[in-house]
Amino acid sequence: DFFSAENQLLANVNMTITAGPTLEALDPVRYISNHSSGKMGFSLAEMAQKMGANVTLISGPVNLKTPKDVQRIDISSALQMHQESLNSLNQCDIFIACAAVADYRPANIETQKMKKQQGVDDLTIQLVKNPDIIADVASTENAPFCVGFAAETEHVERYALDKLKRKKLKLIAANDVAKSGQGFNSEKNALTVFSETERFAITLADKKLVASQLLTIIAQQYSQSR
Ligand code: CTP
Ligand code: CA
Repeated sequence: DFFSAENQLLANVNMTITAGPTLEALDPVRYISNHSSGKMGFSLAEMAQKMGANVTLISGPVNLKTPKDVQRIDISSALQMHQESLNSLNQCDIFIACAAVADYRPANIETQKMKKQQGVDDLTIQLVKNPDIIADVASTENAPFCVGFAAETEHVERYALDKLKRKKLKLIAANDVAKSGQGFNSEKNALTVFSETERFAITLADKKLVASQLLTIIAQQYSQSR
């Protein structure tokens, strides 16, 4: 059995996982967002808990059940996810950023519903950049072991390695969302995991199986880093 005592690879490890999309409000009834079912992050949370970790799951709005014995914190915006992520660091050994964070948010949130205006046929919305959550986590003092994701439609390896370096990550799990049957809203996923010096392939499979394989790689690399 994969979850028997000898497979408690993450026993007593404190882990924070971000999951799902963020919603960036425009006014009380509208927002901009990303496609993300949250399934990969929730699968990671469920499997990490089974492997012995104490899991905090910081989730954007998703339609999923909280995995057993996982502490879930619901947020809506990237700014809220950023704050909860930093709050979790007083007890965090491994941080996995699985969320599809909105890169930008509306510069102003209107307090009343925006009305359609007579004669206005083109509307421009000003956006401002959101903080990079995992980059900020990775650059704190005593930073946890940081693992990012990179969903790319082209140049997968180059873009993933660039993110690994730029965000100071220990590992990055890249997936090619241009390939059919994997990535957001899919039941399955395939990943290539990069460290600075190594690469690991995880072939197309159910997200829970992919999650446990990724967590095994993370557990090995984490224990080697200590
Ligand atoms: N991420 C984050 N905070 C952000 C944006 C991204 O924590 N504001 C994390 C994601 O959760 C993921 C990793 O960074 O683990 C890579 O996200 P991605 O969107 O691919 O990277 P970006 O740096 O935003 O680059 P781009 O969208 O231009 O490809
Ligand atoms: Ca992005």
